[in-house]
Amino acid sequence: MSSHLAERVSLADAPGAAASVPKKRKRARSILGVVVNGREREDVVPDGMLLLDYLREVVGLTGTKQGCDGGECGACTVLVDDKPRLSCSTLAAQMEGRRIETVEGLAHGGRMNALQQAFHEKLGAQCGYCTPGMITTAEALLRRNPDPTRDEIKAALGGNLCRCTGYVKIIESVQAAAAARKEAP
Ligand code: FES
Ligand code: FES
Repeated sequence: MSSHLAERVSLADAPGAAASVPKKRKRARSILGVVVNGREREDVVPDGMLLLDYLREVVGLTGTKQGCDGGECGACTVLVDDKPRLSCSTLAAQMEGRRIETVEGLAHGGRMNALQQAFHEKLGAQCGYCTPGMITTAEALLRRNPDPTRDEIKAALGGNLCRCTGYVKIIESVQAAAAARKEAP
């Protein structure tokens, strides 16, 4: 036994020493009440849990992706009260009372919405890793601006990186979805 370890053992064994041994800290947890894809939920979450991990590991919605070390690729984008938000840079506990939508929640009755359909038909997705973030970001754009210009689409998607398609097909997909929405009854 090293003299250092012997010293620790003898201190811990000394009468009345228990009070001086540091206790393991309990991780703080909160009850989180949110609406995810139209459904109210209450979950106990660690205060430090990221929204990305909450959605994937607690709620079981794995459509939202982690693509970088944090804040640089947009793959983790979800909608919070209709606005795009990086779930990798957001604490789940901050979402109390908020309305969250993931790429899964944009489909209706098992049918893809116009954006999802357009990305499929216009080949806006190749490997698909960036696609959930592209679609949620574009969804937020079309909700606030149903008829965006090409430059407005490019600006809205400026924080979403794709390593496959070169962006032309992605922009065409958003334009096609905007046109399809206008024609929808
Ligand atoms: S995983 Fe969130 S920005 Fe890349
Ligand atoms: S389709 Fe592969 S990263 Fe965008």
